Amino acid sequence: MSEESDVKKVVLAHSIHHTNVPVTDMQRTAEWYGKVFGLTPINISKYVPDATTLLMSNGNFHLHFELYPTVEIPLSTVDHRRGEHLFHTCIEVEDWDTFAANLDKHGVRFEDYKERPQDQSRSATLTDPDGHLIEIAWHGNRDW
Ligand SMILES: [Fe+2]
Repeated sequence: MSEESDVKKVVLAHSIHHTNVPVTDMQRTAEWYGKVFGLTPINISKYVPDATTLLMSNGNFHLHFELYPTVEIPLSTVDHRRGEHLFHTCIEVEDWDTFAANLDKHGVRFEDYKERPQDQSRSATLTDPDGHLIEIAWHGNRDW
């Protein structure tokens, strides 16, 4: 055991507050994240005229978006995964069945569905209008 591991760790980071995602169309982004994740745009126009940042929230969970002329998704350059789209964010959903039913209602399809017996979780992927890969996860055995 290292000397460092015997020292009580100080918790410095609490959680991720938001991530800021590059997008090319604020209206399209607001509509998609609104219907898929139930997020609502936060009006910051009285603080930031002509904002190029879109803030969306459900009160507890936040995503920010930044306007770019183009969005390029980085693809893997590692030999055995060359060209694969690996860069993603994973969003834990409140309830899998409710989330899936909402996707159906809006005609949004998920892909790469997985069940993981080791932690009784489910996951799948979505692709947003700019091509960002979003993993969705649900850990039904957690009581958080
Ligand atoms: Fe992941």
